[in-house]
Amino acid sequence: MNIGFVGLGAMGELIVPRLMAAGHKVTGWNRTRAKAEPLIAQGMAFAATPREVAQASEIVFSIVTDSPAVKSVALGADGVIAGLPKGGIYIDMSTIEPDVSREIAAQFVKVGLTMLDGPLSGSPVTVKAGNASVMIGGDEAAFERAKPVLLAIGPKVTRIGGNGLACQMKIAVNLLLMVEVICFGEAVALAEKGGVSREAAVDAILKSVAASPVLGYRGPFILEGKMPEVPLADVTLQQKDMVLALNLGRKLGSPVPLAAAANEIMNACRGLGIDANDFVVAHQVYRKLGGQS
Ligand SMILES: NC(=O)c1ccc[n+]([C@@H]2O[C@H](COP(=O)([O-])OP(=O)(O)OC[C@H]3O[C@@H](n4cnc5c(N)ncnc54)[C@H](OP(=O)(O)O)[C@@H]3O)[C@@H](O)[C@H]2O)c1
Repeated sequence: MNIGFVGLGAMGELIVPRLMAAGHKVTGWNRTRAKAEPLIAQGMAFAATPREVAQASEIVFSIVTDSPAVKSVALGADGVIAGLPKGGIYIDMSTIEPDVSREIAAQFVKVGLTMLDGPLSGSPVTVKAGNASVMIGGDEAAFERAKPVLLAIGPKVTRIGGNGLACQMKIAVNLLLMVEVICFGEAVALAEKGGVSREAAVDAILKSVAASPVLGYRGPFILEGKMPEVPLADVTLQQKDMVLALNLGRKLGSPVPLAAAANEIMNACRGLGIDANDFVVAHQVYRKLGGQS
């Protein structure tokens, strides 16, 4: 199929090669063109605007930072909406407010087009390994048409419900993930303070029933010198999702006290100036609070 791809950051740059490997012709766009060069060298066509990406495509994906970024690539004269042919499908994979995703989908419906929200659970590591899961919100027939393409991105593809509900589910999944990773830092710091070596603490947790895929690939980063140079997701990016969870809890009247507590640890990461790291760096906050170096 002719596939369009908007947003070639840490996630997009790994999803596009998977689509091309599955035999799709991909036309891409990124605000900063330099980031697209490696993909152009691998055979991706580059278009001047998201509109031109859409003109060349049957299905267009986007994965950009936040709600304003999605609005700017989806709507307007140079947006996906202005170029998508009749029958085309737009799937936004960014993690954004469910209401904003619904508003954008409504704009597409107004001009006879279809938008699905398709947030992705997984990090660059899981995408590369082919283990990412995609949740879809929106029209069921469009989902069925897009499913073979989605399966090239990851093996677990699920329609959650109507527009916005996949975004809502993604926020709930990320709440769980973020609390888990931050609590991991709390547990390791506690064990260390009592005299267990960091290596032994990480190893014991990863061998315990509390182990999980995200702790399996992220946990070892807190060992001495192992923090990744390019974060899988830095504190700022993850805190965006925490704030989405806090706002959704407030809007729906569903309490999220553990997200609130984890968000405070993220604030401490900022205060300590360690927020450019992957958010597993939260472990250092607990060490400092407990008087460890
Ligand atoms: N990293 C993860 O583990 C992960 C996992 C699942 C979901 N997500 C979600 O996926 C989305 C992208 O994450 P990422 O890790 O790929 O982030 P990233 O590496 O920081 O890339 C962000 C992308 O968004 C683009 N962008 C930002 N603002 C824009 C704007 N106003 N107009 C046009 N493009 C804009 C950037 O363009 P430039 O290159 O020009 O800056 C870049 O292509 C986020 O919503 C994130 O929450 C991330």
